[in-house]
Amino acid sequence: MSCRVVVGAQWGDEGKGKIIDILARDADIIVRYQGGNNAGHTVVIGDKEFILHLIPSGILRKNKLCVIGNGVVVDPEALLREIGMLEEKGIKIDSNLMISESAHVILPYHKVIDKRRGAQIGTTGRGIGPCYIDKMARCGIRMIDLVNPESLKKKLYANLEGSSEFDAGQIYNEYLEYGKKVKKYLANVSQVLNKAIVKKKDILFEGAQGTLLDIDHGTYPYVTSSSATAGGASTGTGVGPTRIDKVIGVVKAYTTRVGEGPFPTEFEKVLMEKIRTKGREFGATTGRPRRCGWFDAVIVKHAVTVNGLDEIVVTKLDVLDEMDKIKICAAYKYKGKEYKDFPADIDILENCEPLYEECGGWMKDTTSVTRYKDLPGNAKKYLSRLSKLLNVKIGMVSVGSKREQAFRI
Ligand code: GDP
Ligand code: IMO
Ligand code: MG
Repeated sequence: MSCRVVVGAQWGDEGKGKIIDILARDADIIVRYQGGNNAGHTVVIGDKEFILHLIPSGILRKNKLCVIGNGVVVDPEALLREIGMLEEKGIKIDSNLMISESAHVILPYHKVIDKRRGAQIGTTGRGIGPCYIDKMARCGIRMIDLVNPESLKKKLYANLEGSSEFDAGQIYNEYLEYGKKVKKYLANVSQVLNKAIVKKKDILFEGAQGTLLDIDHGTYPYVTSSSATAGGASTGTGVGPTRIDKVIGVVKAYTTRVGEGPFPTEFEKVLMEKIRTKGREFGATTGRPRRCGWFDAVIVKHAVTVNGLDEIVVTKLDVLDEMDKIKICAAYKYKGKEYKDFPADIDILENCEPLYEECGGWMKDTTSVTRYKDLPGNAKKYLSRLSKLLNVKIGMVSVGSKREQAFRI
């Protein structure tokens, strides 16, 4: 048995959904611990593509318990829509889904505020930031409140006192209805998970977003509002850090980010178009084109450190198949000084010159490779250079979006 945490080691969209789906084969329980439906995790099975926003990516496998922890913010409307989408595709949702009674609820005003104020950061507009603000301000509404009419009324009316924009009565009625529909999923998640650990069950924690979007360790203020790093798995579920056995980071073989914020290795126009098209780099949640760039070892080294990564999974190696030269950023240069470690000063990230190493490309299709030893020589050299620079082991490589297109090293 083991408790493994899977985190994004860049700016999100590293392919966590696909990797969780693979690892979920041997797990009993899959747990989301932070974020909300700002996430978009893609799993491709045969010719079917599933995009999960809130429900753990383990839901596509039979006989797995999927859990939404207390650290997640839940939009009940989005949750019910996702359940509906899965059921339409033949995935039954009943006792295989459990939601923490303590998870905070996204309300209509959170979404309105987010759309109004989030442009500078380029948020997903899902109400994530404003919901976490209320949580921290201690005026949030939790899932358990949705099944307690008195408590819901008191809190909602207090939050909306003096507001002419939102109708507390209407929201109250709408959310009471959601409460009736989600009641069967509510549970004391911390108790359930800790009992499962005693019974030696295998648990997989599914991180959303990525390390550089983490509220503490990311490129603040261009981040999300939750703890997307491995520590979030403990605070976001009530499973103590001593129970976690392994932390796995997922990285793309290059870099992408959606929304605003510094991106030292961002491509110029021509390469941007090439990689965006080949990698189909469009947001799984908002459809926005993702910004693309070379692999940035400075940020991933930071992710190795702050997550305590035991190993990494490298995804989308195949997207580099047609590049004759590939660059890796090993350090930044700013005002004459070299930075090998991630700087806290956003000005350095915005104005530094990335210092690159160049590797030879392999110019061969890797999408049908199923064993590490069958990769082209330069692809192996590229991976070992990454491993050396990051000082971490590569545990798995992914060469396509399908379940079968990945192999362990
Ligand atoms: P997540 O948010 O980390 O789960 O990642 P997303 O699902 O937002 O984005 C990853 C995208 O890359 C999805 O469209 C996946 O189907 C796709 N993908 C995952 N792994 C690979 C891979 O190894 N190669 C290619 N070409 N696509 C991949
Ligand atoms: P997954 O789990 C990539 C980005 C947004 C924006 C910033 C803040 O699919 O990897 P928010 O709505 O969270 O307040 O937006 O964070 N962002 C993501 N980028 N992948 C994600 O999730 C993201 N979730 C949020 O684009 O820049
Ligand atoms: Mg995504």
